[in-house]
Amino acid sequence: MEKKDVDWGSLDFNYRETDYSYVSMYKDGKWDEGKLTKDHTVTMNECAGVLQYSQSCFEGLKAYTTEDGKIVCFRPDLNAQRMHDSCLRLEMPPFPVDRFVKAVEEVVKANAAWVPPYGSGATLYIRPYMFGYNPVIGVKPADEYMFRILVTPVGPYFKGGMKPVEVRIPDYDRAAPHGTGGIKAGLNYAMSLYPIMEAHRQGFNENMYLDPATRTKIEETGGANIIFIKDNGKTLVTPKSDSILPSITRRSICYLAENYLNMKVEQREIFLTEVEDGEFDEMGLCGTAAVISPVGRINDHGKVINIKSGMDDMGPTLKKLYDTLTGVQMGRIKAPEGWVHEIKVD
Ligand code: PLP
Ligand code: COI
Repeated sequence: MEKKDVDWGSLDFNYRETDYSYVSMYKDGKWDEGKLTKDHTVTMNECAGVLQYSQSCFEGLKAYTTEDGKIVCFRPDLNAQRMHDSCLRLEMPPFPVDRFVKAVEEVVKANAAWVPPYGSGATLYIRPYMFGYNPVIGVKPADEYMFRILVTPVGPYFKGGMKPVEVRIPDYDRAAPHGTGGIKAGLNYAMSLYPIMEAHRQGFNENMYLDPATRTKIEETGGANIIFIKDNGKTLVTPKSDSILPSITRRSICYLAENYLNMKVEQREIFLTEVEDGEFDEMGLCGTAAVISPVGRINDHGKVINIKSGMDDMGPTLKKLYDTLTGVQMGRIKAPEGWVHEIKVD
């Protein structure tokens, strides 16, 4: 199979249309059999549930070319399960977990020519999403839903790639206490648009949200979980909170830290004062899009908190974690059982 003529190394994190998407409709209480489509346009009634009451959720995962030329994706069963959980919280009918994984396989296979080559620095981003399709005017869930998967080749989420970023603490929350912060609802991202544009206008890369109830504990950014390193690289600390997304990347990093790198992992409440007091040597953002992106500086309303590893390079322990994670994803390091899902292309 011949790859598309794309300058893979210069891709950034933007949408580019590919050949096929996947689509399945939920109607009369059941999902249809689903199919690939070349139609990348969605047409629906102006009163559709998603347009009126934002009934939508999504997922994000990637397909990679491994060192030995296979196409794989990373733990798609966990994305399937998380989307299932998002759907329940939003009164949407879950797309069955096994069908989700099969649909990912099908759409990646159909777009194999778009999966960036090994070593190019790019990957194929896979975006499953679901929304309320039929008209609703009273505040209630839709009866009909569309589940789709689009794929698009991407480069690094942050422009500098592995260069440390600077985050600020915003005056806004992305999620409410007991709200929807723990699921991947589209509405969480709508909430973050004004704060992210304000952060960019002020010269910062991202917002670091504090817990919405007390504004004293660290939560996550608009699109990634947070990890800290302390004790000379011996300990990884990551926030525990019901209002952050349970990142699959973060869960994987914690496992690799404990089982591959012999580190101690603490998942607990992290107070901003601990960061101010210089408790941590390194800080990173982690997620499918962000992979592991180092943070060099936090700005709290003009007060600068420097992370010891600084603004020049990724710190040594995050680099080790980054190499281990991407090594597993790209087939250079033996993966734990069931993590790497091969997609066979004939
Ligand atoms: N937190 C938020 C708000 C996100 O949007 C994402 C991205 O999916 C993550 C964390 C990271 O999650 P994952 O590692 O499963 O991609
Ligand atoms: C992801 O990492 O997959 C995300 O969804 C984060 C962002 C692109 C919204």
